[in-house]
Amino acid sequence: MCGIFGYVGRPANVGGMVLGALKRLEYRGYDSWGVAARENGHVAVRKQTGKIGGATVDLPAAAIGFGHTRWATHGGVTDANAHPHLDCTGRLALIHNGIIENFRPLRDELLARGHQFRSDTDSEVMVHLIEEGVASGKSLADATRAAFARLQGLNAIIAMDVTRNELVAVKTISPLVLGLGEGANYVASDSLALTEYTRDVVYLEDNQVAIIRPDEVTLLDLYSGQPLPLKRERVDWDAGDAGLGEYPDFMSKEMAEQGRVVRQIATGYAERARALADLIWGSYGTFLVGCGTASYAALTGMYLFSRIARRHVNAVLGSEFKYQEHFLTDRSLALALSQSGETADIIEAMVTSRGRGATIGALVNVRGSTLDRMADFSVPLGAGPEQCVLSTKAYTAKLAVLTLTAHTLAGTPEIGRELLLRAADELDRFLAGGGAARVRAVAERIAGAEHLYAIGRGLSYPTALEAALKIKEVSYVHAEGFAGGELKHGVIALLTEGTPCLVFAPNDETRDDILSGAMEMKSRGGLMIGVSPQDDPVFDIHLPVADVGDASPIVNALPAQLLGYHLARLRGYDPDKPRNLAKSVTVK
Ligand code: AGP
Repeated sequence: MCGIFGYVGRPANVGGMVLGALKRLEYRGYDSWGVAARENGHVAVRKQTGKIGGATVDLPAAAIGFGHTRWATHGGVTDANAHPHLDCTGRLALIHNGIIENFRPLRDELLARGHQFRSDTDSEVMVHLIEEGVASGKSLADATRAAFARLQGLNAIIAMDVTRNELVAVKTISPLVLGLGEGANYVASDSLALTEYTRDVVYLEDNQVAIIRPDEVTLLDLYSGQPLPLKRERVDWDAGDAGLGEYPDFMSKEMAEQGRVVRQIATGYAERARALADLIWGSYGTFLVGCGTASYAALTGMYLFSRIARRHVNAVLGSEFKYQEHFLTDRSLALALSQSGETADIIEAMVTSRGRGATIGALVNVRGSTLDRMADFSVPLGAGPEQCVLSTKAYTAKLAVLTLTAHTLAGTPEIGRELLLRAADELDRFLAGGGAARVRAVAERIAGAEHLYAIGRGLSYPTALEAALKIKEVSYVHAEGFAGGELKHGVIALLTEGTPCLVFAPNDETRDDILSGAMEMKSRGGLMIGVSPQDDPVFDIHLPVADVGDASPIVNALPAQLLGYHLARLRGYDPDKPRNLAKSVTVK
């Protein structure tokens, strides 16, 4: 995914404005960045590899400009491959998010007609196709429509013509939001970058083309060119939520916000949990669908509905869903779990489900996101902007909604509410009461480890998987999570002297068996780190957490998040922007 921001309005310090907006969007991609604005009737571009950091751009005041932060897909991380890309005349510029799957034949065709390419990206073919349309007398919008119709793949593009003071935007799946201002209008890949200027937005739909001018925004149908009505909406959260505050990084901030988020779900989600429980009860087959961390929330949900509500629900990886679509009927419920609401594999799973007549539900954090808007029933996680690439508060928010819903389905909503309140208090206590310091001491003790294993059973099995993902994606330690019962089926061959092993041992039906597994690991040299309400002789290190019953996955997530964080910091890595990753995988 990439970050996109564009402005057209009164002459302004467009360079500074765009760069500031891109910094808010940098969690979407940070391989390189670029800004373009009008200068003397042509496009002036400043772009470079790497994160924005304290960079500035020396561009003149201008009435139009845009910029892009890149997560590279086609074409290496170089200055030339950074967006924006220019046409041969120097009057048109383009920024792009997505993959143009048929870019090679298009590039060959354009080269044969004499176009000069400056990069080896797929994106650049688009600006030359638009150039040909404009040269033939088409408007920028019509030239863009014709060019976009030739693309294969999921793409979002913004074209800029500095001679006409207008931007044109069009997309398929990848998100674009239009910001409606006074005497100025905006476009961005996420409303997070708009709220500083306006809260009035229009979420661009697939196959719509937006023409963005200083005094008006118009929509056209991509294929017919017919005008379409603007569906104005209001952004309901404050950009102020998006700042770092007194925290050194977003990961610290967002881990610390988990108590508040879980508490607000405990106290304010009774009706939503009731509605979701009714949907699950009324379905013949419920599929919880997620990727990465969200998939572990889905897997936790499967255990929660089984043990609390005696209800069978399926947990399915988004990327694997289409291989199981044969189970879907028009009585199925497909429930998307996603922080961003833009993960391509989940969107594809929901499109498949829709095609089979299933009901679409969504638990998403970003309001107005693709999944939020395509769902028949959407539950906002309400966690506020999550900008660290690692998902923390959105993960525990999903677990909270699923726990409350399972108890509501079982007819015991008050028990669910009570457990979540205790979990929320424990999240705050663990951070404030020395738990974070204990985890940091563990990180210092194992800082040189190349491998780390995590084990859990039942509800704690997905917790072990999530713990391993948190640690590996931020510290680059090779971490793996296992079901405790799998140790003797090959896993235990991996153990060597001093290998750190996280053991999740809540006070539930899994405790005796997981401690027995821990003994096996210890006897082969493992360094046993127990996350548990009670200590045990098998633990070399005990990280005490409160006993919160079914809500144990929520509190058990925090020690693992903190361990990954401190390992990353001790190794000198940026916890917010790990290498090779982006906040949301909007391409397959
Ligand atoms: C989580 O720490 C990872 N960054 C990643 O696994 C993420 O959970 C996954 O890509 C799904 O993202 P989503 O919740 O926005 O759909």
